[in-house]
Order: sequence, then C-alpha cells, then structure tokens
Amino acid sequence: MLLEVQGINTYYGLSHILFDVSLQVDRGEVVVLLGRNGAGKTTTMRSIMGLTPPKTGTVLFNGHNVTGLVPFKVSRLGIGFVPEDRRIFPDLTVRANLEVGLRKARDKSTSWTIDRVYELFPRLQELANRRGGNLSGGEQQMLTISRTLMGNPDLILLDEPSEGLAPIIVKVLGEFIDLLKREGTTVLLSEQNVKFSLKHSDRAYIVDNGHIKYHGTIEELEKDEDVKKRYLAV
Ligand SMILES: Nc1ncnc2c1ncn2[C@@H]1O[C@H](COP(=O)(O)OP(=O)(O)OP(=O)(O)O)[C@@H](O)[C@H]1O
Ligand SMILES: [Mg+2]
Repeated sequence: MLLEVQGINTYYGLSHILFDVSLQVDRGEVVVLLGRNGAGKTTTMRSIMGLTPPKTGTVLFNGHNVTGLVPFKVSRLGIGFVPEDRRIFPDLTVRANLEVGLRKARDKSTSWTIDRVYELFPRLQELANRRGGNLSGGEQQMLTISRTLMGNPDLILLDEPSEGLAPIIVKVLGEFIDLLKREGTTVLLSEQNVKFSLKHSDRAYIVDNGHIKYHGTIEELEKDEDVKKRYLAV
C-alpha cells in the first residue's frame, strides 16, 4: 500500500471530528472518499498532510510513518494536496504559478514539466501570461492541480475538485483524472458528486459523521442500493 491511514482520531480544539478512520490507497489507484457536507472529508486530508494532525492513530506513506510531521515534510515525501479553496497566486501569471510548484521527480520514469502540462492543457498555455486571478473557476482548478503535479508527487489528494464547476468543466476534470491514472499517478479524491466519482474511481470509502461507514469497489457500491440511499442520497 502506498498510503495507509490506520484508526486516526482528529480534533478541532475539543471537538472530536474523525473517529478511528482507516483507509488505504494502493499505488496506481484512484480512490474516492465520499461524504456529505461536514462528513469529515477535508479533515481526513488535512490529517494526512499534517495540517490538522490526528491525536491518535497512524498515517503511513510509502513506508514512512508521517503521523504528525509538519506539512512541508509530508509534501517532500511525495504527497501533493489540492485544497478545496484552490489557492493559486492571483497576482502571478499562470506560468509563474506553475514554476512555483516545480520540483524534480524523486525516482520515477515519468516526470511532470510545464511543457507536458501545456501539452495536456493547451488552454493553460494560451493563458500562460495571464494573471491567475483573472482565470475562471474551472481554469483555476486546472491550474492548481497542474501546479501540484509540478512537484511530481507520488500521491495526489484532490479535495472536492468538482465543486462549483460547470458540468462541461467537470467533464474535462474527469478526463484529466483518467489521464493521471494512465500516467501512473495515485489519486485520493474527496467528493460529494457521486456520479462523477463512480465514473472515475476504482474504489470508494464513505465517511459519515467522522466514521467510515463503507468501503468497496465501485462495482460493489453501484449494486448496493441500500448504502447509496442511506449515505449518498441517490
Ligand atoms: N476549523 C474548524 N474548527 C472546528 N470545527 C471544524 C473546523 N473545520 C471543520 N470543522 C467541523 O468538522 C466537521 C468535518 O468538517 P470537514 O470540513 O472535514 O467536512 P467535509 O466532509 O470536508 O465537508 P464539505 O463537503 O462541506 O467540505 C464538520 O462538523 C465541521 O463543522
Ligand atoms: Mg471539505
């Protein structure tokens, strides 16, 4: 397993938010963490990154115990995080935003470069000299993901990437996730958009009120009308 989250309990102050959350992501997989508003998706990702370290439990990444490490160290070990609020630098150009993220691949045959990103997203090349702040929501999302790829992570955490995007952009995003998978990048996605998630993931976990209530393959979940009705409102 590339990522193993084992029984973590995470708090904001005195509020207990995650209860014994465990999940695993194998190399090359796209795994989705599904859950409603406030279920604990972002807190799980923040716990993995060390932004809100768990009080108990363990996070193992690529053989390292990363529990409680500061975020930049977690990132250096090869986890890229795309937060839900898409923090691009609004005053920097698109190209400069990408350059900020640049870091050489550690030990992989494939490595992301600005030119490769432009090849995949010709739109970003067209916008190369535009200020990040002047991009549309969808373009900013592509830019944030691309900037994170520039760090050549072994695992990329995408926190609700489809949120607030127009359907046509969600489609582009989905194609992009498929492409990441083909390139061998491992993805942990958090989503509320069930249809989108089922289409682009291999396996799913459902988090509800800070508890993992379900995990299985997408085929298994597709067939489980009870679980879908209970937790996913579909
Ligand atoms: N900084 C904070 N301080 C206190 N409580 C918080 C904080 N951030 C989140 N929470 C609470 O933690 C719980 C889980 O929130 P979290 O942001 O992880 O949910 P989420 O699944 O990402 O939801 P969303 O779909 O709205 O992004 C919620 O009850 C939320 O109110
Ligand atoms: Mg969230």
